[in-house]
Amino acid sequence: MEKKLEFDNLDIFLKNKQLSAVIRTLESDRKRIAQELHDNICSKLNVISLNCHLLKIPNLPPKDIEEITKNIIEYTSKALNSSKKMTHSLLPPVLDKFGLHAGIEELCAQLINDVAIDIQYENNLKFDFKENDNHIHVFRILQELFANSIQHGKATSISVFFDEIDGKRTCKYSDNGIGFELNQLENHKGLGMKNVVSRVAFLEGSLSIESQMNNGISVIFNF
Ligand SMILES: Nc1ncnc2c1ncn2[C@@H]1O[C@H](COP(=O)(O)OP(=O)(O)OP(=O)(O)O)[C@@H](O)[C@H]1O
Ligand SMILES: [Mg+2]
Repeated sequence: MEKKLEFDNLDIFLKNKQLSAVIRTLESDRKRIAQELHDNICSKLNVISLNCHLLKIPNLPPKDIEEITKNIIEYTSKALNSSKKMTHSLLPPVLDKFGLHAGIEELCAQLINDVAIDIQYENNLKFDFKENDNHIHVFRILQELFANSIQHGKATSISVFFDEIDGKRTCKYSDNGIGFELNQLENHKGLGMKNVVSRVAFLEGSLSIESQMNNGISVIFNF
């Protein structure tokens, strides 16, 4: 009984830790979105609004009208582009329309294009559209792993491989970056890996992370 109680307490403790990581992530996501809205959209709408008011000034010379209209058109298109980028990063449309496989393909293509990194992506699984709500977690996990490999690992090559192993859908991820000391992970302030842990738990899967200094990182999770 005592052992079981101890085990249950530990379980509750771990679940609480996961929950607080989820809440902190939600808050930091909100902060990021608010900041992006403020910097990229509101500032442009302000310029548009100001220029629209200027147009109301009576007897404006045609040259000024032309200049003001040009500003309005330019800033409207900038605001539109910024909002498209934001909605795209919040929920990539390809993921919603064509599923996880297409979503990952697009993510890899974007990274290969933006940061000139080599990514090998191979998938032997069929992702059922009905499970798209769960697949968003797999997508977010990969986004975080990619971001870490590029930002911290300075990796030049990444491999992502999906297959069925022991009857479980499994993802094997690795990079060739500088790696890190695993026992340091707990002390890091970042939320990314805590989030990965929560998402895998949410998918009722298991996760293993291996890394050594100067020897890249290898992550295996199932779902
Ligand atoms: N692929 C990797 N290569 C090298 N170091 C890594 C890698 N992934 C994680 N790390 C190390 O683990 C730490 C924790 O990662 P985590 O994603 O949790 O936080 P973060 O990336 O620093 O911040 P956040 O993800 O919240 O923006 C990182 O700061 C980094 O030192
Ligand atoms: Mg991170």
